[in-house]
Amino acid sequence: MTDILEALNWRYATKKFDPNKKIEAETWSKIEEIMRLSPSSFGLQPWKFVVVTDPKTKEELLPLSWDQPQITDCSHLVVMCRRTDVDETLINHYIESVAKTRNQELSELNHYKEMILGFADRLSEEAIDQWASKQVYIALGQTIAACSLLQIDTCPMEGFSPEGYDKILGLQEKNLASVLLLPCGYRSDEDPYAKASKVRFKKEEVILEGQQVD
Ligand SMILES: Cc1cc2nc3c(=O)[nH]c(=O)nc-3n(C[C@H](O)[C@H](O)[C@H](O)COP(=O)(O)O)c2cc1C
Repeated sequence: MTDILEALNWRYATKKFDPNKKIEAETWSKIEEIMRLSPSSFGLQPWKFVVVTDPKTKEELLPLSWDQPQITDCSHLVVMCRRTDVDETLINHYIESVAKTRNQELSELNHYKEMILGFADRLSEEAIDQWASKQVYIALGQTIAACSLLQIDTCPMEGFSPEGYDKILGLQEKNLASVLLLPCGYRSDEDPYAKASKVRFKKEEVILEGQQVD
């Protein structure tokens, strides 16, 4: 599918995946790249995406996800995590990566680095966690939209126990905390939601022209 509006009308929050259809490796590798290319504030990428395909692990996660069947039926379950180590080390790592990628001297990036460090310093620990979570939501939006162009079904999910997931997947030890789930795969022919009309407010209710705002 190449038309973005056609793709976005085709996609829906998939309630029932076909458990027998798996995403092939080449397509999955594109989806990983789509997640990696997500934009973030300062470009800091305070996230990691944990991919679960092991059936036993998915079974364990099911009761921690309000028993929503997408967890076990999907092909690839992505647990979208925020980093819990948004600190000077991460900021230095990012600045070094900018310098290397763009052939710049580290000294040229000093001002930028100080700006990010200043931003992080001014925020409480809780505010940094919230900020990192917001970045994860951006990755979610980009991935859902891009998957629709690949005709891969997804279901964004907040209905799960982040603490339970963190425990089972050992995320704390990896300096991660789960924020969102994104099961990916192929819709089941039996999912009634696939044929349901999309419910959205009218354009004039959500898009305001400049003149109306004044
Ligand atoms: C952040 C977020 C969390 C959601 N959590 C769940 C969830 O836990 N389970 C579920 O079945 N759908 C979940 N949804 C799907 C929404 O209910 C769905 O996107 C919305 O009703 C619009 O329908 P559509 O995506 O099919 O167009 C979530 C959507 C978003 C964006």
